[in-house]
Amino acid sequence: MAAGAVGPRGLLALLLLLGGLAAGGAGTSPDIRTDVTDVSGKLILSCNMTEPYPGITGHEWMHGDKVVQTDEESSVFTTYIIEGKKEEHSGIYECIYKTSPMMKAQVNISVAPQVEAYKKSEHGNEGDTGVLTCKNPSFPPVSFWLWYKTGQEPIVNGSGRYIIKSSGNKTELRILKLNIEEDTGDYHCNATNFYGWSAATVNLRVRSRLAALWPFLGIVAEVLILVTIIFIYEKRRKPDEVLDDDDGGSAPLKSNATNHKDKNVRQRNAN
Ligand SMILES: *[C@@H]1O[C@H](CO)[C@@H](O)[C@H](O)[C@H]1NC(C)=O
Ligand SMILES: *[C@@H]1O[C@H](CO)[C@@H](O)[C@H](O)[C@H]1NC(C)=O
Ligand SMILES: *[C@@H]1O[C@H](CO)[C@@H](O)[C@H](O)[C@H]1NC(C)=O
Ligand SMILES: *[C@@H]1O[C@H](CO)[C@@H](O)[C@H](O)[C@H]1NC(C)=O
Ligand SMILES: *[C@@H]1O[C@H](CO)[C@@H](O)[C@H](O)[C@H]1NC(C)=O
Repeated sequence: MAAGAVGPRGLLALLLLLGGLAAGGAGTSPDIRTDVTDVSGKLILSCNMTEPYPGITGHEWMHGDKVVQTDEESSVFTTYIIEGKKEEHSGIYECIYKTSPMMKAQVNISVAPQVEAYKKSEHGNEGDTGVLTCKNPSFPPVSFWLWYKTGQEPIVNGSGRYIIKSSGNKTELRILKLNIEEDTGDYHCNATNFYGWSAATVNLRVRSRLAALWPFLGIVAEVLILVTIIFIYEKRRKPDEVLDDDDGGSAPLKSNATNHKDKNVRQRNAN
């Protein structure tokens, strides 16, 4: 009954009190304000503590698991400057205060997707599976991918001969049993996240099976012609050699060179 009287609000107050005590136990750590500003082609990332803090022996800036800047200053304010555009440097950065215990904050450079086609044009053979790929290396990841063919409705995953596989930085459109008339053309991958969208185009060309076979057929034809020529040549030579064998009573290899030459001359004269 007494517990019921405390109610949810009382419980919340208790939790806040406990939270406050836990924070107090760890030593009152000031908040870190982060900021990214874009000034004339420069990106200025900054961290600032909301209160003075003694005992800072330096700062470190990290991008992923790489240290990109370090210093030994004691200020509560620290910046990291990048030359270039947001779009080229998106990602998660971190400012680290060398304190005991260490304190840090995340500074994100967030941009709309920066989609690129893995290959601007793809070739496929009729009947094969076509694979078109787009990627997005920027931060944050893509939350929504869309594929469509020029002038057509967005492609629905699993419909017809289409299979779409997507993740935060990549999408893949597979077209099963490629068809020359239906599938040749421009495909667009459109990526969207909280900051906007971007799209890329992949051109797909489908070749007929026969076209793919032409080089092979060419080789086969060449071989056939060669074999025929050799065969005809051999056939025309054969009576001579049979004659040769009967005549000499021994294989041509055994006969000596002059002997052989004599025979050849003799045979040519006979002809
Ligand atoms: C950092 O934060 C403090 C406290 O909020 C403020 O007084 C100071 O001007 C800030 N420094 C910079 C360079 O913005
Ligand atoms: C930065 O991005 C990470 C990962 O998406 C996220 O967890 C974090 O809250 C972001 N930090 C800020 C300050 O926006
Ligand atoms: C996409 O993300 C995965 C997993 O996070 C990673 O292994 C892969 O290298 C990334 N690919 C690209 C193109 O950024
Ligand atoms: C599309 O469907 C396949 C098979 O049903 C599934 O594995 C895949 O995750 C789906 N892709 C998307 C983007 O929903
Ligand atoms: C991409 O998708 C977004 C969101 O769905 C839409 O607003 C935008 O017009 C599309 N852009 C193109 C080129 O398809």
